[in-house]
Amino acid sequence: MSTQRTFSIIKPDAVAAGQAGAILALLEKSGFKILGLKMLQLTQKQAEGFYEVHKERPFYGSLVKFMTEGPVIVMALEREDAVTKLREVMGATNPANAAEGTVRKLFAKSIERNCIHGSDALETAAQELGYFFSKAELG
Ligand code: RTP
Ligand code: MG
Repeated sequence: MSTQRTFSIIKPDAVAAGQAGAILALLEKSGFKILGLKMLQLTQKQAEGFYEVHKERPFYGSLVKFMTEGPVIVMALEREDAVTKLREVMGATNPANAAEGTVRKLFAKSIERNCIHGSDALETAAQELGYFFSKAELG
């Protein structure tokens, strides 16, 4: 496995709850290098575009509302096998099914308010990194 880059968001629930530092510490402890990081308030358009893949799902409207309710922290992360490893550290979408020690097991409140996003494939990671970071920012 080679070094990869992936994209992550600390979602508004976790930022508001003061859990961003603990989540960043867990990611660093899990071997991720933080290449880029910024705090943003997503606009409705940005959130809709980001989650466009889910546009036909019944939870889309609620998800967009949640993702725009307060600031998020977007991150570019690097490590070996980053895409798969981040999904492991995040835990299952529904915290009720998340493994012990994962971000979602430790901090998520519900299947929707689940603290963290992580790209689901290498191609998605490249696309999502480009959605929030310029080439100059990541080098
Ligand atoms: P993410 O994209 O945020 O990393 O999460 P994921 O891959 O684990 O889950 P995905 O199926 O891509 O869903 C995206 C986000 O939509 C919300 N969701 N709500 N109410 C529901 O049944 C439901 N299902 C999904 C969650 O915030 C989920 O992370
Ligand atoms: Mg997903």
